[in-house]
Amino acid sequence: MRTRAAVLYGPHTEYVIEEIELDDPKENEVLVRFVASGMCHSDEHMVTGDMAMDPAIVEMLGWQQYPIILGHEGAGVVEKVGPGVTELAVGDHVVTSFVPSCGRCPSCAKGQQNLCDSGAYLLSGRQADGTARHHALDGSDIATMCCLGTFAEHSVMNINSLVKVEPDLPLDKACLVACGVTTGWGSATYAGDVAPGDTVVVIGTGGVGMNAVQGAAMAGARHVIALDPVEFKREQAMKFGATHSASTPEETMALLGELTWGRNADVVINTVGEGKGSDVETYMNMVGKGGKLVFTSVANMNDNDVTLNLFAFAMQQKSLVGTIFGSANPRSDIPKLLGLYRSGNLKLDELVTRTYSLDEINQGYQDMRDGKNIRGVIVY
Ligand SMILES: NC(=O)c1ccc[n+]([C@@H]2O[C@H](COP(=O)([O-])OP(=O)(O)OC[C@H]3O[C@@H](n4cnc5c(N)ncnc54)[C@H](O)[C@@H]3O)[C@@H](O)[C@H]2O)c1
Ligand SMILES: [Zn+2]
Ligand SMILES: [Zn+2]
Repeated sequence: MRTRAAVLYGPHTEYVIEEIELDDPKENEVLVRFVASGMCHSDEHMVTGDMAMDPAIVEMLGWQQYPIILGHEGAGVVEKVGPGVTELAVGDHVVTSFVPSCGRCPSCAKGQQNLCDSGAYLLSGRQADGTARHHALDGSDIATMCCLGTFAEHSVMNINSLVKVEPDLPLDKACLVACGVTTGWGSATYAGDVAPGDTVVVIGTGGVGMNAVQGAAMAGARHVIALDPVEFKREQAMKFGATHSASTPEETMALLGELTWGRNADVVINTVGEGKGSDVETYMNMVGKGGKLVFTSVANMNDNDVTLNLFAFAMQQKSLVGTIFGSANPRSDIPKLLGLYRSGNLKLDELVTRTYSLDEINQGYQDMRDGKNIRGVIVY
């Protein structure tokens, strides 16, 4: 079938909106008509080139990076099911899971679905069988982000990448739990293990960090400091449960000194737009004895250097914790978070600053770069 998609032809280019050819779903795959897709910062790393791999390695693996249909925070309706699909039916409402979860690999079996072995294909640009479902009108293959490609009116994907949701939930809000909400909330509650009475700093309160703020508040943190250079983000953070805000690391250190009598933070969560190894020492300085720094931000793939005073790190028994998808289990946490939204305990509506049509995607990402949006959402 033909559908419309935003195609990125290479780093440092704009999205091109065009018609593409989409194959029928193969075994264990479905065709989804998207209703909405959040514009996460992770897609932006394909635009800046931070996630662009060595082309020789990409070719050796039989992968494809560009041209690509980005987008991994989608929600929509199943329109067709492929052979062997029994758990989803035409008309079902679904949210994407940016890490597929097979339910059978050792990681899934241990309750770490965010580390599912199917994640090995996340950057392949392909479906798990190594082939593409998306093609240009000349027949050449187009890659997809995280085996999904939600910046398109329709896509075909494996059922492992989808979680069925209750049909009365608004899909233009539910899409946010496909990545940003779950990642941020889980960065505080799972990766950070925030406990009642804790002091928490969230660095970078955008689409992900704002949910680390609400996760920390929900977990009972006493102080939640939102550190962001953008005033609008700091103001918004107070609505999501922050108790204080700061615009620089120095201001944050001063606040921590006052609030904790010099003991500093139990948990610091880094959700800035671009993670940098050179910032680790600054952020680790905010962490008190026995505390942890959770690193959620995506860094340039070739950033191998971390600045960290190892003496203080060991002697103050600190931890540095990496996390993907907030260490959450999409099949249980996506329904859980939507349940919290339904009962009024989790804010989703307030995360959506502005909606865009697919044709406005370049404007949407410019607004993200300009600090105007907590989350911009494409509504189809
Ligand atoms: N680990 C994961 O599984 C995972 C999942 C989703 C997103 N991410 C990553 O998380 C990061 C945040 O994503 P997002 O969608 O929230 O981005 P965003 O652009 O919405 O938010 C980033 C925020 O960081 C702020 N910021 C920028 N520089 C800063 C600095 N030096 N100090 C403090 N704040 C600063 C910006 O003002 C903005 O509010 C990105 O790197 C993204 O790729 C990781
Ligand atoms: Zn994301
Ligand atoms: Zn698995």
